[in-house]
Amino acid sequence: MIACANEGAHVPGRETRAWATAMPPSDLPGKETPSVRRVSMEDFRPARLQDILGQPDAIARLLRLARGVRNGSIVPPTLLLHGPPGIGKTTAVRAFAREVLSDEFENSFSELKAFDDRSPRRMAEIILNSRRPPLRGAPFRIIFFDEIETLSPESMNALRPAVEGEGGTSLYALACNDIRDVPKPLQSRCTVLEFRPVSPEGMRQILARALPRTSFRLDDLAIASIVERCHGIPREAIKLLLEEGGAA
Ligand SMILES: Nc1ncnc2c1ncn2[C@@H]1O[C@H](COP(=O)(O)OP(=O)(O)OP(=O)(O)O)[C@@H](O)[C@H]1O
Ligand SMILES: [Mg+2]
Repeated sequence: MIACANEGAHVPGRETRAWATAMPPSDLPGKETPSVRRVSMEDFRPARLQDILGQPDAIARLLRLARGVRNGSIVPPTLLLHGPPGIGKTTAVRAFAREVLSDEFENSFSELKAFDDRSPRRMAEIILNSRRPPLRGAPFRIIFFDEIETLSPESMNALRPAVEGEGGTSLYALACNDIRDVPKPLQSRCTVLEFRPVSPEGMRQILARALPRTSFRLDDLAIASIVERCHGIPREAIKLLLEEGGAA
């Protein structure tokens, strides 16, 4: 049985179809279609903050904030995560939400991606909704707007009162690739967390943790080649790992 990295994770949709066989079917009776367990990109997404390798600064700050929430002393400012695609921003927000919301994660965390309706009208509705009292057992709701560079200027503007904490009972988290796309006044109201390309050593650790979740084995040369070709981007590294696994 393969352990999944995203056990209990919030997985709004499979992001990729890069599949690889994880375990050969061994004890299947008769002519039944073998139910091969497969691993996909999502299976490698770390669920907990402490399992996110390669981003020591950002993760240390998120852990500190989470501690402050848990001991009841703070409501963090709006989080603004930035860094290249596939670097781990969504992973970190979900892990932070899991950490502070615990059992209320499913009910108190919402994620709005670029393809969701984020018209100014819808934004206003979401923000109005976010002012409802938090659910029992949760310190607040967490509302995550991914890829905020795709928001229209009007929708971006609609976020302002929420980000400024105007009467809200929700914590907002925002993510973008390029911080320069975020208006300065908005940036200055946020805890800004930069996600940088992972060092080769960090990437080797990520791959070393990922590999046992698959059925294939790669030699040091193959691992070194992935580390070189992924340019410090975990999504690239996992994609390459799955490709190499197909060839192994
Ligand atoms: N530190 C990490 N350790 C292991 N895998 C990781 C790590 N960070 C990210 N990943 C892998 O990379 C994939 C992409 O991460 P994620 O979706 O968080 O990136 P992102 O920064 O939000 O990208 P985008 O800008 O495209 O939204 C995840 O599915 C996960 O498999
Ligand atoms: Mg993302």
